[in-house]
Amino acid sequence: MTEPMVYIIGAGPGDPELVTVKGKRLIEEADLILYTDSLVNPDLFKNIKSEAVVQKSAGMDLEEIVQVMVEAAKKGKKTARVHTGDPTVYGAILEQMKKLAEEGIEAEIVPGVSSAFAAAASAGLELTVPELTQTVILTRAEGRTPMPDKEKLVDLASHQCSIALFLSATLIKKVVREFLEAGWTQEDAAVVVYKASWPDEKVVRTTLGNLHEDMRANGITKQAMVIISKAADQELIQSGTYESKLYDKTFTHGYRKGVSAHE
Ligand SMILES: C[S@@+](CC[C@H](N)C(=O)[O-])C[C@H]1O[C@@H](n2cnc3c(N)ncnc32)[C@H](O)[C@@H]1O
Repeated sequence: MTEPMVYIIGAGPGDPELVTVKGKRLIEEADLILYTDSLVNPDLFKNIKSEAVVQKSAGMDLEEIVQVMVEAAKKGKKTARVHTGDPTVYGAILEQMKKLAEEGIEAEIVPGVSSAFAAAASAGLELTVPELTQTVILTRAEGRTPMPDKEKLVDLASHQCSIALFLSATLIKKVVREFLEAGWTQEDAAVVVYKASWPDEKVVRTTLGNLHEDMRANGITKQAMVIISKAADQELIQSGTYESKLYDKTFTHGYRKGVSAHE
């Protein structure tokens, strides 16, 4: 028998086609599928083995979750632990892997499309626009989980780069306060994507000043990605000031010789 093993698989943001080929294969080969919450689309499980056991872990505690996986893996069952988006971002996988290791069970992480990137795609954004912002911060507002001292939102926001906020839909007033304190203005752009890539997805384009009211008006209190970024400012982007030189015919790089600007 092969060594017991658990695959921790990123399900992507919701659209069942936004899972990796490897993740899909492992799910379809699995004997046990234990999945996290309402943001994992059960349509992902359409072509699984008829005898596969599919279980939702919402409502189970860590011990119960690990016990289910340990029992299956030790019996030689192929075990898929399916997490929303990418498992390495707010996936709480560390404690699961630690407990599995204590039982002599290895875990392999299969990455997924994080909702930060699915949301940017749904909003039609490039998160890194030359000379405007070249950095993306993935973070959250401080709620019950305290933020490390050096990662307070006001400090992160002071970089004025693209910032994607997870788990923050109910903390928006506080988010806006911290961004304004960090030097952003009421007019700066924000996009909220509710249930990115799901059929009932909503994309709300707004400003920092209107963010709270627009989320409230659209009934968005959870399952939302909030992106605050100058790159979401349509006027700025349409101005043509900030465009990559990569495909510009006067820009030379290793694979393409530039055409002289004088030609
Ligand atoms: C526990 S975190 C998991 C994040 C996940 N690992 C990822 O990479 O997207 C859950 C938060 O992710 C965000 N999220 C997950 N799926 C989403 C989706 N389809 N659309 C918008 N936000 C989503 C929301 O902010 C939600 O509160």
